[in-house]
Amino acid sequence: MTFAKLSENPEYSSILPATFLHGYASAAYQIEGATSQGGRGASIWDEFLRDSPENGDTACNSYHLWRNDIELLKQYGANSYRFSISWSRIKPLGGRKDEVNHEGIKYYNDLIDGLLEAGIEPTVTLFHYDVPLSLQRRYRGFAAADSGELVEDFCSFARLCFETFGDRVKRWLTINEPWIFTILYSLGLAEDWTQPDFFRVGHNCILVHGHVARLYREEFKMTQDGQIGIALNMEWVEPVDESPAAVQAANLATERCIDWFAKPIFLGTQTNAWDRHSDIFPRFSEEELQMLNGSADFFSVNHYGTSYATGRILEPGSKLDIWTMDEVEKSWTKDGILIGRRGHNGHPHTVPWGFRKVLVYCWDHFAKALDIPIIVYENGYAMENESSMAIESIIDDTARQEYYNNYFQALCDAVKMDGVQVAGYHAWSLLDNLEWHNGYQPRFGVTFVDREAGYKRIPKKSASLLNSIWRYTVHGKRE
Ligand code: BGC
Repeated sequence: MTFAKLSENPEYSSILPATFLHGYASAAYQIEGATSQGGRGASIWDEFLRDSPENGDTACNSYHLWRNDIELLKQYGANSYRFSISWSRIKPLGGRKDEVNHEGIKYYNDLIDGLLEAGIEPTVTLFHYDVPLSLQRRYRGFAAADSGELVEDFCSFARLCFETFGDRVKRWLTINEPWIFTILYSLGLAEDWTQPDFFRVGHNCILVHGHVARLYREEFKMTQDGQIGIALNMEWVEPVDESPAAVQAANLATERCIDWFAKPIFLGTQTNAWDRHSDIFPRFSEEELQMLNGSADFFSVNHYGTSYATGRILEPGSKLDIWTMDEVEKSWTKDGILIGRRGHNGHPHTVPWGFRKVLVYCWDHFAKALDIPIIVYENGYAMENESSMAIESIIDDTARQEYYNNYFQALCDAVKMDGVQVAGYHAWSLLDNLEWHNGYQPRFGVTFVDREAGYKRIPKKSASLLNSIWRYTVHGKRE
């Protein structure tokens, strides 16, 4: 072992409350498969990956094997599971006047009932990147120049979910990672993309969230007594040195990736971080800001990794990739030393202190004043070249174990030493699910899915490590 086991350090014993949510996260397109079964309509991913050998047609086959997934969650000691609903599985064409698909509804009803029977609390993401294809064609989905149709269609889909599942689902996430979603749209998920679309998609995500949260609070919360939030993601960017240029660049990266979304939703204000693009950056009206202000009941954050800001600001559009859409140049070395253990194709490195800084940032800037807890809904690691390793090394995933051990310790430190209120943690992900990263295939799962052997699930050691960490750190869980 290359790390000191958290579950053997008495300083961390039972430091988290018994109510602490701990478990795994997934997303519909990445695990379900059965894209043309059970009455499901097409989503933009079916179209985007149509000619790719790695597409979601079968994925992890969870549409058929969801019972096995619940067994795994039980075996792994999870009390919480976050999954997403495929919009086009329950409304194949997506629009407010389009038909409901009852087979799709049954799939999610069974899954929710199965989770509850197993003592696992579901958190449901309404939307994890998978726009119904017909809505993309009708008005360009989230890139719609006028958000009216999109808001109405999304609210009608959300209403269907609240009416159908809300008696049992008590925690909702409206949208997954608007920051990454705007980037994916820019990298080819939307046809005929132009630079204003980047800002439009982000803007529309925030608006949709606001409308859906208002709908839930006005019409469902009183009777269903649940909570609603949005899954933001935040990577940490550290200045490479103390130079004003590096410090400013790091701040700018942070403001662009998180404040763009968090400011309107948690503070009712808007960021100035995109002033360089003021001609194409849409601003919210006062009325919209009022609606958005305080529109989440908890601060949901996803986090993977940390990089350095070199101090160089890039020319707009000079480089279109996941790291530099914020126009801030990054590096993963300082004085020739790597920032942490390299993950697959550099995504992510093991930098636990960056995770602690993310939690402190979200707490200090947003959650603390509102007295709402932070819930981590994704955190995970892809080992370098895992897909070409021998099965023994895949299962004995030491680098991932080290990552989880040290990241969970960083979370505990944020709670213990920085006074951050954290109410839950979800590892990404339960299974080796479908990933799309420009053709290189990272694997994030704590479970190997053997596709040749009927999608058999084989636990990796990181799953039992996480289980023992939770037993040790969550009050009342110790054997
Ligand atoms: C997304 C997931 C994705 C993960 C790992 C997150 O940004 O929410 O859908 O699988 O990163 O790449």
